[in-house]
Amino acid sequence: MSFTFSYFGHSTFGLDIEGTQILVDPYFSDNPLTDQSAGEIKADFILITHGHGDHVGDSVSIARRTGAKVIANFEVANWVSEQGVEVHPQHIGGGFHHPFGYVKMTQAVHGSSLPDGSYGGMPGGFLITTPQGEIIYLSGDTGLFSGMSLIGEEDVYVAALPIGDNFTMGPDDALRAVKMLKPEIVIPTHYNTWELISQDPEAWKDRVEAKTGTQVRILKPDQSMQF
Ligand code: NI
Ligand code: MN
Repeated sequence: MSFTFSYFGHSTFGLDIEGTQILVDPYFSDNPLTDQSAGEIKADFILITHGHGDHVGDSVSIARRTGAKVIANFEVANWVSEQGVEVHPQHIGGGFHHPFGYVKMTQAVHGSSLPDGSYGGMPGGFLITTPQGEIIYLSGDTGLFSGMSLIGEEDVYVAALPIGDNFTMGPDDALRAVKMLKPEIVIPTHYNTWELISQDPEAWKDRVEAKTGTQVRILKPDQSMQF
């Protein structure tokens, strides 16, 4: 086993990669699905996919408390940096060897304005390669895009994809995404946070497993899974 994946509901994840704690889009205070507190969660690194409030979330307060370094696109990184947080800016298509693994930013078809209206650059996702060589794809908020088939050439082990519809891919397009990405395992995200994005993940699991070779793992909020 090489990493632990935690789901805190919505699009908030925790990765424990060989003892390094990585939070992704840490949305705790206003997230109705999690009981975790932004004031207690551990973090060594925080990854932010885009500038929307349900993804930047509690990044600044958690980074200030823990000293975690924020990895995000250049514009979001600058915005966070101005609030006294250590950052590592990257951008779409660029990767960097961080202490816990190689992180490449991927495209996403979405928006990225920051909570105060500042320009948040392009939205993105993350392709993380662990020291053991497992590849984790966190798409971020996105519609379906054909470039997912290029990401599918990268031997993705675990993918986390939105299924909520309305703001992101819904179940039909998320199934098409699985066909392009061909991950061993997919975790559905960005659903049932609000009525507007309510979905049945069990129904989606049945469809994906009937039509692809990918296994679906449905994590309850605040549930962790070891890989
Ligand atoms: Ni968004
Ligand atoms: Mn969102």
